[in-house]
Amino acid sequence: MDHNRLGDLSLGVATSAYQIEGAVDRDGRGQSIWDTFTARAGTVKNGDTGEHAAAHYDNVVDDLDLLSWLGVDVYRFSIAWPRILPEGVGRPNPAGIGFYDRLVDQLLERGITPSVTLYHWDLPEALQQKGGWPNRDTAEQFAEYALTVARTLGDRVTMWATLNEPWVAAFVGHLTGEHAPGIRDVQAAVDAAHHLLLGHGLATQALRTVTLGKVGIVLNPTVVWPASDRPEDIAAADLADGVRNRWWFDPVLRGSYPADVLQVFESVVDTDGLRPEDLDVISSPIDWLGINYYTPESVAGGPPGDDAIGPGIDHVKTRPVEGEHTTMGWVVRPEALTELLVRVHNDYGPIELWITENGAAYDTGPGPDGTVADEARVRYLESHLSAALDARDQGVPLAGYIAWSFLDNFEWAEGYEQRFGIIYVDYETQARIAKQSAHWLRDLLAQRGRRPGS
Ligand code: GCO
Repeated sequence: MDHNRLGDLSLGVATSAYQIEGAVDRDGRGQSIWDTFTARAGTVKNGDTGEHAAAHYDNVVDDLDLLSWLGVDVYRFSIAWPRILPEGVGRPNPAGIGFYDRLVDQLLERGITPSVTLYHWDLPEALQQKGGWPNRDTAEQFAEYALTVARTLGDRVTMWATLNEPWVAAFVGHLTGEHAPGIRDVQAAVDAAHHLLLGHGLATQALRTVTLGKVGIVLNPTVVWPASDRPEDIAAADLADGVRNRWWFDPVLRGSYPADVLQVFESVVDTDGLRPEDLDVISSPIDWLGINYYTPESVAGGPPGDDAIGPGIDHVKTRPVEGEHTTMGWVVRPEALTELLVRVHNDYGPIELWITENGAAYDTGPGPDGTVADEARVRYLESHLSAALDARDQGVPLAGYIAWSFLDNFEWAEGYEQRFGIIYVDYETQARIAKQSAHWLRDLLAQRGRRPGS
């Protein structure tokens, strides 16, 4: 990869709180829905939990040194709501705030820009007990929590994301039940989706009252290809695109829900809770949009079944896509990233775009000489960074590329089996080994030198 192509693109790595921190009962942290979900038998592969994870809470300074060694411009991490407000609301926990306060200071001392995500799926269990995201109050409480965090960090954090991937939180958490809180209820799923978006809008407004930092949201759109040119496959792809993509982009950036998807949802649930006036809040102006991209999807129309990929669309079936696959079973198609960025820019721009996650799971561990030769990950990252730059060459205002993930970590329902890190984590000893992909990123950053404009 020619470093001259990078221009002033910011480069970084990402993590999220529950996936790396561990120390779940330390310093006054309250329980999150992922603590209770992982405690239930059969929810996560091998019965894994985030109890210890990558022990980042205890190794934070060493991990920061690794970030310095990499030379990244940006570090994207999330804040655990139950560390800040153990009961979800009420009195802030000084020890929890202190952890992130020091993290931000130490990043800035190292010349690394902190990119803070406020919600990466670890809702306080106390709020789940009151109904969680299907309960409208949770949206208001999220904005209160955002305000609490921004009152402490708002003078130093210049890049905020309200939510990470609300599609996953709503539908994987409340429709398929594969993620916490493990609910399978179509009404709960649609209500959760709306309240997550409302929470995003309310938090955006709240953040504006205390910080001058840029505020955005992180979505996980999918490129949906019809499996063939049969009309039913094209119609299925259009609807899948509606549920995966337009249901999230339209309210945030246009202040409306897509009529075709709304009609489908209305046929299976009561949508009275989706108050039209909420859309003014949900579409509060944002400064940037984060995109998490891993893999495209092919879909076909088929008979109704119990494998719905969204509310009311159980006739939409996913089909295999040709290409190499990662250990998650996700197909590697970098050109889909170019297509996605161009489409988002054309349909919803102009807005500053960031790739906030992109990466691959490969099970490469240390060889006899102790090094981790993850060439497949290097190829994945390099081809996708290059595909992102192709989109920028076509006029997409792409400001940054953040790889997932900094460290191997707790991959939700997949537990520790899937390794996304560019840094290998030995979960027995918590030792870290920089994989070949980490060296690749470090070399690229070193060749580039200081980012132009910084
Ligand atoms: C997500 C999350 C990450 C995942 C990553 C790999 O996008 O699902 O933001 O927490 O670990 O995407 O699945």
